[in-house]
Amino acid sequence: MTTRTAVPSRVRRALARASEHGFQGACEDPVGPLLATLAAAVPPNGRILELGTGTGVGTAWLAEGLGRRDDVRLETIELDESLAAAVRADDWPTHVTIHTADAEALLPTLGRFDLVFADAVAGKWTGLDLTIDALAPGGSLVVDDMDLGRYTDPQHRTAVLRVQRTLTDDPRLVTARISAGTGLIISTRRSDPPLHRRDEKTP
Ligand SMILES: C[S@@+](CC[C@H](N)C(=O)[O-])C[C@H]1O[C@@H](n2cnc3c(N)ncnc32)[C@H](O)[C@@H]1O
Repeated sequence: MTTRTAVPSRVRRALARASEHGFQGACEDPVGPLLATLAAAVPPNGRILELGTGTGVGTAWLAEGLGRRDDVRLETIELDESLAAAVRADDWPTHVTIHTADAEALLPTLGRFDLVFADAVAGKWTGLDLTIDALAPGGSLVVDDMDLGRYTDPQHRTAVLRVQRTLTDDPRLVTARISAGTGLIISTRRSDPPLHRRDEKTP
């Protein structure tokens, strides 16, 4: 028997906005409950970032994980002004900020985050290095759409493989690939400096 997480009202409103806007890109199960779970683990005075707000489904799950906490800031970046305005018009706690901007341009100015959901072209398919740089030590990065089996277009397949390889090979990260939903990868930035490779000479 499988059980499904109840869908919070703010998430339902975000899903309704997706229908109204004919928006197809909202995140799919189990990403939402996963984001809520990881958001709940962010330490006091921590920061959360979402790249690509869409109609606010991921944002709503992240806010759900924070519950009534106001000691964690949640920021989300959306390029499309009409989507950002529609999401902003909902009822959000004061610690949620919806930026209208190009995520790749804004990212280097925002500092470090304890949890990042990279869900836009910018900062995921391009500029992934900027997103990794923005992870605080111990911070986690979530990406979806990583199931290679979903893609036939050679360019898409190459892009998926590039993201997989970058996250798996980066010595700053500990990475898990999870065959759920659209294919998930979670990477956590090590708190300690990366170990020297065995074949590297130490001075
Ligand atoms: C996959 S959807 C995001 C879905 C959302 N995170 C969710 O959980 O439902 C990708 C979003 O990224 C936005 N986007 C595309 N390029 C962007 C950029 N350069 N900067 C910020 N947002 C961008 C798109 O307008 C779209 O709304």
